[in-house]
Amino acid sequence: LSQKISILLNCRSCGAEISPESGKYSCPKCGGILQVKYARSVNKDSFFSYSSRSGVWRFFEMLPVERRENIVSLEEGNTPLIRTESLGEGVYVKDETRNPTGSFKDRPNTVGISKAVELGAKTIAIASSGNAAGSLSAYAAKASLECVVGVPEDTPNSKLKQIMVFGAKVVKVRGTYSAAFNLIRESSGKYGWHNLTSVCTANPYQVEGDKTAAYEIYERLNNPDWVAIPLGAGPLLVGIYRGFWELREAGLIDKIPRLIGVQAEECAPIARAYKNGEKEVTPWERKPHTIAHSIADPLTGYSQDGTLTLEKIRESNGVAESVNDDEMLEAVWQLARGEGIFAEPAAASTLAAFNKLKRNGIITGGEKVVLLVTGTGLKSSAALDRLGEAPVIDPDPDQLMKLVS
Ligand SMILES: Cc1ncc(COP(=O)(O)O)c(C=O)c1O
Ligand SMILES: [Zn+2]
Repeated sequence: LSQKISILLNCRSCGAEISPESGKYSCPKCGGILQVKYARSVNKDSFFSYSSRSGVWRFFEMLPVERRENIVSLEEGNTPLIRTESLGEGVYVKDETRNPTGSFKDRPNTVGISKAVELGAKTIAIASSGNAAGSLSAYAAKASLECVVGVPEDTPNSKLKQIMVFGAKVVKVRGTYSAAFNLIRESSGKYGWHNLTSVCTANPYQVEGDKTAAYEIYERLNNPDWVAIPLGAGPLLVGIYRGFWELREAGLIDKIPRLIGVQAEECAPIARAYKNGEKEVTPWERKPHTIAHSIADPLTGYSQDGTLTLEKIRESNGVAESVNDDEMLEAVWQLARGEGIFAEPAAASTLAAFNKLKRNGIITGGEKVVLLVTGTGLKSSAALDRLGEAPVIDPDPDQLMKLVS
């Protein structure tokens, strides 16, 4: 195996260069967003040279962990790219519900926790709308690390229980997701915990895991015309942009797919700024009420993350779109009954946005479209509760026939 060359962190705002060994996760000079800089040039051979049961760690050379013994993996990634039958020619679903804990968050977390182990972490912490913490708690269990979790007060029980199963210390924080975010950021600073919240401001390593989804899409489809991605603050979109950007730098593709960032109408700071032609994203003022709770991020106190996401949407010549609860629920049933894929509403938002953009003529027939379906419906009470009860009958074929006909 080739020797890995070390990495640096570099501030996106003031340009400062910082060593990872400093243990810093955001810029100590200006508070800006750090990004990983690899002290080597990437070429075609850098991408697909390793064999690993994990889809993410197949790309070890492209990731910010220096020593393989620090890897904490649950065999994440390598998710199917499904050619759909019912959604039209050229429409694919990247089924991220197949990750070990049921959402794409296993990609950023396997990288974030492995780097934390490399940096000597004992306690890790995360703010999450549910999926990211359900995932990180599993990885923390595997690595025998203490894990502290803050979730918004209205997080559904099904998601809380997943976190508790793995033994993390979880609290519900009064207020929106942003309140949990700010609590975990402040406490991590105060108590020396490694902050693994998967927002670029909080942690520069997580987004490197997100980019592996782009490599996998490239392997199957080269570069599709569009890739649709649900957005909270948007690190998944930033990571996917970065993945395609690196593939372009290495000469493997000549253009980056147009990225569609999807938000819930009830909490859409990034889509609002996009539509108003603004350069900067401002926080969402109202407390959101939506079934897409996992992407309802008002960005209060870290709107620079939204601005970074918006920048990447524009650089890809993409669009930001918002969809309402009814459109997302309809997309949940459309995916389940047309494709056999059960997604939570936030994850089906990409199909809802696709439907809308197609109606509006922005996506045309014949284009290759990838919809990221980011989380399973099995931990979403919003979808499950709408299904009602199954009828009870005697073991009598006539009663059965009456019900099924
Ligand atoms: C199902 C699902 N999709 C999408 C997202 C958005 O991810 P990001 O953190 O990249 O904004 C989340 C975030 O928690 C999520 O849970
Ligand atoms: Zn800085």
